Amino acid sequence: MHGPPPTSAADHWDDFYDRDPQVWSGRPNALLVAEVADLTPGTALDVGCGEGADAVWLAERGWQVTAIDVSRTALDRGARRAAAAGVADRIVWQHHDLASSFPTGTYDLVTALYLHSPIALERDPILRAAAAAVAAGGTLLVVGHAAAPPWAAHEHHPPEHRAFPQPDDTAAGIGLHDGAWVLETCAVRQRSTTDPAGQPATVSDSVVRARRR
Ligand SMILES: C[S@@+](CC[C@H](N)C(=O)[O-])C[C@H]1O[C@@H](n2cnc3c(N)ncnc32)[C@H](O)[C@@H]1O
Repeated sequence: MHGPPPTSAADHWDDFYDRDPQVWSGRPNALLVAEVADLTPGTALDVGCGEGADAVWLAERGWQVTAIDVSRTALDRGARRAAAAGVADRIVWQHHDLASSFPTGTYDLVTALYLHSPIALERDPILRAAAAAVAAGGTLLVVGHAAAPPWAAHEHHPPEHRAFPQPDDTAAGIGLHDGAWVLETCAVRQRSTTDPAGQPATVSDSVVRARRR
């Protein structure tokens, strides 16, 4: 007998978002804000956009955004947030399971923030596809957990999730050392946040930012 089939990424993430009317803070990520502030707005692709706070923030700053996620619940929330912010015409929301599809086109900015999943996710090939979608002179920004947050460090994680990729691993996995890129940021950054109990906490993020020559 085989066990039950694994939950699909779409089912898992729709369930995840359905549990709460709003999962994330609704504020743009502080590292995104810091890394993108000096860029001239153009076209942007947000890979794994979640509920869309980053996409809306980019659109408010003049970017024309394509925001993609596997969860239709999250995409619908993003679209509602964009409408409320008056930037609905600046964001296209697309449903993709990155295991099998990726948006077409090239973009001046491609972001992937916290593209982590308990459902198997081949991160390196997906991030290489993200890098391939960066136009000449454009920027790739990949931010992820560099360590489990302090409040979850004790939780059981399957073996493949025990070690979070470090910035050098991410840059090497994408192939950012091949001469076609200027690696502008490759670092672990500490970020202040609040834990699920509302207490102040510090988390470690891996930040990789590169510009295509
Ligand atoms: C940890 S959340 C981060 C969301 C958002 N980038 C943020 O920083 O708030 C990971 C996101 O990746 C999406 N995701 C996970 N697996 C995916 C897949 N196979 N294809 C597309 N999106 C996926 C999830 O639906 C979720 O919204």
